[in-house]
Amino acid sequence: MASPAPVLDTPDPTTAELIAARPHLSLHARDGLLMEGVPLGQIAAAIGTPAWVYSAGAMRSRLKALQSALGAVGAEVHYAVKANDHLAVLGVMAAGGAGADVVSEGELMRARAAGIDAGHIVFSGAGKTVGEIRRALEEDIAQINVESPAELEMISAVASAMGRTARVALRINPDVDAGTHAKITTGTAENKFGIQYDDAVALYAHAATLPGVQPVGLALHIGSQILSTAPYRAAYARTADMVHALRARGLSVERVDCGGGLGIGYRDEADGSPAALAGVIQSTLGNLGVKLMVEPGRWLVGPAGVLLTSVVLTKDRFVVVDAAMNDLVRPAMYDAWHGIVPVGAAVATGKVAPVDVVGPICESSDTFARRRMLPALQEGNVVAILDAGAYGAVMSSTYNARPLPPIAMIDGDKWAVIRERQAMTALWAGERVPDFIHSSGG
Ligand code: LLP
Repeated sequence: MASPAPVLDTPDPTTAELIAARPHLSLHARDGLLMEGVPLGQIAAAIGTPAWVYSAGAMRSRLKALQSALGAVGAEVHYAVKANDHLAVLGVMAAGGAGADVVSEGELMRARAAGIDAGHIVFSGAGKTVGEIRRALEEDIAQINVESPAELEMISAVASAMGRTARVALRINPDVDAGTHAKITTGTAENKFGIQYDDAVALYAHAATLPGVQPVGLALHIGSQILSTAPYRAAYARTADMVHALRARGLSVERVDCGGGLGIGYRDEADGSPAALAGVIQSTLGNLGVKLMVEPGRWLVGPAGVLLTSVVLTKDRFVVVDAAMNDLVRPAMYDAWHGIVPVGAAVATGKVAPVDVVGPICESSDTFARRRMLPALQEGNVVAILDAGAYGAVMSSTYNARPLPPIAMIDGDKWAVIRERQAMTALWAGERVPDFIHSSGG
């Protein structure tokens, strides 16, 4: 969901336009929709639907493009693990030389399990627990981004008790409105993230006096799905001012973590431009002599994933599919627009008419698309919901006792299942029914 909210008075892009804008997808006259060299229909037939499919090639080439644009200004790329934390995805990032931005002990341990060097891991998040801080120090990660005065004291206490020194960056709240969806904006004074701009210099000076912590710089993250450079420019300019103010007080500032948020084109928007972002970073922060970092998630993996789903039945203008809001929650949660493309060759090129594509869950928000121009779909036809690689599988639940779908990864002509479909019995495997349930009521 780009913001301002997608301009829906322009016609939706056609199937051909959606495919043309995504280089890892193509339409083959016989095999239908291909991701890299593999027909998606083949994967649906082999592992069933719903199923997630990721393109390793797309992730790899997007990482390369981002690194080459941001590397030109000396910024290190830390992949925001929250966007997609599968070990194989993290493996692509690790092999490509990315570090990681993590927000929980689980993400930290996933990143380590995937082979990402602790020296390239940054820990962000507004509510790190003592246990998480301890784990971060045990792993000796590059940096902890501090989000509040209380957290700074906690880190100082935990690190001192462990005989360690934590490298910390203060995450400042630059009070810049990134103009994104209200549920994902993070950089305004209204929300819970970061340290109030006006308090940050004093807190940094205080940090320099505390045992167990070494303030190394500043961090910020102003929101997600940002498609223009203006909010970045405003936020980084305020950050540069603060670096000068800190240095004027004799404090050392070695690093600036510029955050993530670079958007992608879900509908007919162009992807956010890494080169434009790099240009803004260079012009605002480039001459400070600081080590620069960025932490994008969505831009790296969003376009690289699809959710395959089959038509269960059609009813009036409704096409009911076997995926639902518990699998991909973005449309229900943020009114997000996702492209939907038929996978079969014959279907994909058929005459289009408006339909609502909905899941089977008993809530009207379980809707993937409204009045979408699609060819006539019949029971069993498979469609791909596009751009589901970021904030897709990671946000799934098993609501309505629906097992988590399998995940496949494609690399060129090869593909493999990288997560099995969750077994039905696994849904209740951890549950216990206490004896008093059976002994009461009689
Ligand atoms: N760094 C921090 C501190 C963050 O909070 C986030 C995202 C990122 C980096 C990565 O942002 P990205 O480059 O992926 O935009 N579930 C929502 C998005 C939530 C983003 C939360 N923070 C969605 O599906 O649109």
